[in-house]
Amino acid sequence: MSLLELVKARRSVRTFSGDSLKKEDREALLAYAQSDAAQDNPCGQKVTWKLLEGFSSPVIVGTDLFLAGKMPQATDAELAFGFVMEKVVLKAQAMGIGTTWIAGTMDRPAFEKAVELSEGEVMPCVTPLGYPAKNMSLRETMMRKGVKAETRMDFGDIFFDGDFAHALTPEKAGDLTDAFEAVRFSPSAVNKQPWRLVLDRDTVHFYEAHSRGYVSESGWDVQKIDIGIAMLHLDCALKELGKSVTWFKAAQVPQAGENTDYIISLKVQ
Ligand SMILES: Cc1cc2nc3c(=O)[nH]c(=O)nc-3n(C[C@H](O)[C@H](O)[C@H](O)COP(=O)(O)O)c2cc1C
Repeated sequence: MSLLELVKARRSVRTFSGDSLKKEDREALLAYAQSDAAQDNPCGQKVTWKLLEGFSSPVIVGTDLFLAGKMPQATDAELAFGFVMEKVVLKAQAMGIGTTWIAGTMDRPAFEKAVELSEGEVMPCVTPLGYPAKNMSLRETMMRKGVKAETRMDFGDIFFDGDFAHALTPEKAGDLTDAFEAVRFSPSAVNKQPWRLVLDRDTVHFYEAHSRGYVSESGWDVQKIDIGIAMLHLDCALKELGKSVTWFKAAQVPQAGENTDYIISLKVQ
């Protein structure tokens, strides 16, 4: 399966079969999450993972097993977390294990206690783990409708050619089209899809189009996790094409509109 196929096959799973995750699947997924390959990310920060049993979320039925990640709250920790956790999510997808990114719909104090969160650390998200049920619960069906989970924005509304005045077309993106498509199908909090990308010759600039209400008082920005997820998809898709990629912060970038901030760039070779 190509990365794009894997990305398109994934969806948030909120209704599980009720069968416990097999011991070998639990161990294999946790070992992968802790591996150097999974931890490697452009920001160089590490995520500590813990499996938690006997937990629940108001949107999840059919499993009580969760995977939670914590890390020091440092600059760009959101990007690192999104990048690393999405690798784990895609690995789970390839293994037939269902997941849902959860930042909000959980008893946060209970989860934070269980991961032994210390001062200066964050536990950005958790995911349930289990085998998807054949049918979705009514609540899951309603939730998906509520956030239009089956749809994504159009290519030309989120990807740009040289500057924000020119939409990028698949024709112009050429052999990079599928890599951009892999970004377009990323999951995001409330399906807001805040990523905006500008292709400037051999460089892709990432921006975040902020929606209201996603930055906490401490400056923690949930939508920046979405950008980390999108970064991982582009990184993997380009590597699958045999390209080498270098992440960097550019000194000068195309100017974006209101509420849209430059985040990071990627040089493709
Ligand atoms: C950072 C992040 C946080 C999320 N938090 C929640 C959450 O708290 N509860 C929930 O039910 N879904 C949550 N989601 C799942 C999104 O609603 C979902 O990814 C989006 O609607 C797209 O649907 P899909 O994942 O099925 O493609 C979150 C997703 C991301 C990326």
